[in-house]
Amino acid sequence: MIIQIGKVKKNKAMANKDNFKNYFYATTPIYYVNDKPHIGHAYSTVIADSISRFKRLSGLKVFFLTGTDEHGLKIEKEANARGMSPKDLADAVHVKFKELFGLLSISYDRFIRTTDEDHIKTVQHVFSMLMEKGDIYLSEYEGWYCTPCETFLTEKSLIGGNCPQCGRPASKVKEESYFLKLSKYEKRLVEYIENHPEFIKPPFRKNEVLSFIKEGLNDLSISRTSFSWGIPVPGNDKHIIYVWFDALLNYLSAIGFEEFQEGEKNDFNLFFKTANHIVGKDILKFHAVYWPIMLFALNLPLPKTIFAHGWWLMDNKKMSKSLGNVIDPVYLINNYGADALRFYLLREVTLGLDGDFNMNNFITRYNSELANDLGNLVSRTTAMIQKYSGGFLPGLEVGIDEDLIKTVIDITANLNDRYDNYDFARILEDTFKFINTVNKYINDSAPWKINISEREDKEKLYKILRSAVISIYYISYLIYPFMPDTSGRINKILNIEAFMFLKFPVTPEDIFDSHGVLFKDGHKINENRDILFPKIVNKD
Ligand code: MSP
Repeated sequence: MIIQIGKVKKNKAMANKDNFKNYFYATTPIYYVNDKPHIGHAYSTVIADSISRFKRLSGLKVFFLTGTDEHGLKIEKEANARGMSPKDLADAVHVKFKELFGLLSISYDRFIRTTDEDHIKTVQHVFSMLMEKGDIYLSEYEGWYCTPCETFLTEKSLIGGNCPQCGRPASKVKEESYFLKLSKYEKRLVEYIENHPEFIKPPFRKNEVLSFIKEGLNDLSISRTSFSWGIPVPGNDKHIIYVWFDALLNYLSAIGFEEFQEGEKNDFNLFFKTANHIVGKDILKFHAVYWPIMLFALNLPLPKTIFAHGWWLMDNKKMSKSLGNVIDPVYLINNYGADALRFYLLREVTLGLDGDFNMNNFITRYNSELANDLGNLVSRTTAMIQKYSGGFLPGLEVGIDEDLIKTVIDITANLNDRYDNYDFARILEDTFKFINTVNKYINDSAPWKINISEREDKEKLYKILRSAVISIYYISYLIYPFMPDTSGRINKILNIEAFMFLKFPVTPEDIFDSHGVLFKDGHKINENRDILFPKIVNKD
C-alpha cells in the first residue's frame, strides 16, 4: 500500500499511535565550544541527519537532537586565553555550529545548549535524585586529568605522563569530589550488553567496551572544586558538576524529562526507548559505560543503539591545529556544495571505520559519480523528453521496463535493515550502480534511432522515456536522506511535490500505482536549466 505524504511531513496516522515503534530519536554528540566546527563535527551530524530523514520518510515520528557542550575547564581556559567570559565564548561559538548546520541542511528538531535553563534544571534534579538514592557520595579524588578530553585518568594508563587518548600532558588533581557508584551496576551492564546485540554498533565495538568494563570500574568522580565554569552541585556550590555528567543528560532534558517526571503526559518515554546516539569512537566509553549506569541509577530504560563512527584522517595523518591540516567544512561547502560534502563523507567510507580525507579522491568521486553519472542521467532524460515529446511525459499505458523495476525492488527490500545497521555506504553504492544501469539502459535502447512514425516504435520510445523518469524518481527518493537539496532539485525538474510513502518491501504493484498517481499521461517535466553538479576542473 502506498500513501502519499509531504516530503518531510509526519505521517499523522502512524505517529499518534501510542507505540514506541513509530518513534525515532536521533542524537549527535553535543560539541565543545572552544573552537569553530571542523569536519569531524560535520560528520557525526550528517550521519544523524541522514538517518532522521529516512525515518521521517518512512512515516515515523522523529526527534533529532544536536547542540553544544558549553561547560568545563577546557572552555573556561579557552575563554581566559581570549580574554572573555566562558558564556560569551559559548554564545559566539555556538552560532558557528548553527551556521554550519544551516549550510549543511541539517534538519534538527532542537539545538540544545548545556547553558539552557531547562537543561541546568534537569542536571541538578538528577544529581539530587541520585544523592538521595545513595548512588552519589562525597569523598576525595586523587589522580590525573586530561583537560582537552575532559577525562579522569589513572596513573597506570598514562603514556610518558601524557593522555593515552590525545597524547597531550595530563595534570595531577587532588580535591574533594562527589562520586557516582559505577561498581554497583557493573555486572548488570555486562549482562545488558551481552543480551542486547543492537545496543552497541558496529558489532566489533562491543568487545572493546566489554573488556574495558571487565577490567573493573572505579567509581566516577563527578564534581570539581578547582574552577567554577559549570553547573553548581545542589546544596554545595563549592562544587561544580563534572562536564560529562552534565553533557550526557542533554539527551534527557531535550525531550521533556522534567515534565515527564512531574507527571505530564508527553512523548519522553516513547522517544527515549528508541534513542540512537551517534558518536565518534573516541567517546564510546562515555556513552556505553557511564551513561547506561546513570540511567540504571535513575531507573530509566537504556537507549536502543549507540553507534560509534570512525575518524577522518587527512592524507593519513590525524587532523590537528598544530599540523595545520584541519579541514574546514565551510570552505568545502562554499566551493563544491553541501551535498557534495555530505555524499563524500557517507560514500567514501563504511560507517564505523576510519577514513582518509583526500582532496583528489573527493574531486574524482564528484566528477565521476555526481557530475557524470547522476547529473548526466537527469540532464539527458529531460533533454530527451523536451526533444521527443515537447516536455510532456506520454504513454502511461505502455508501462516501465521490468528489469529496472526489479532493481528498485531489490534495493528497497533491504533498505530498513541497511539504515538500522548504518550501512549507508552500501545504500549509496547500490543507488549509484542503479544510476549506471539506467544510463546503460538508455544507451542500449538508443531512442535517437527510433522512427516514431510507426505506432510500435512510438510505444518503444514512450517506454524508454517513462522508464527513465520513474527510475530518476526512485533515485531521488534513495538519495534524499543523504543529499536532500539535490533530491529537491530533481523533484522540481520532475515536477512533483512529494514522495509517496513506501511501505517495505515494495512490490511491483506499488511501483505501478505510484507512477500512475505521480506521472499521469501528459505530466509536464520541467526543462533542466539547473546543472546539478558542474564539473570541477582541477586547478593544479
Ligand atoms: N562534548 C563532547 C561530547 C559530549 S556528548 C554528550 C565531545 N565533543 S567534541 O566536540 O570534542 O567532539 C564531538 C564529535 O566529533 C565526536 O563524536 C568526535 O568523534 C567527532 N570528531 C572529532 N574529530 C573527528 C575526526 N577527525 N573525524 C571524525 N570525527 C571526529 O566529545
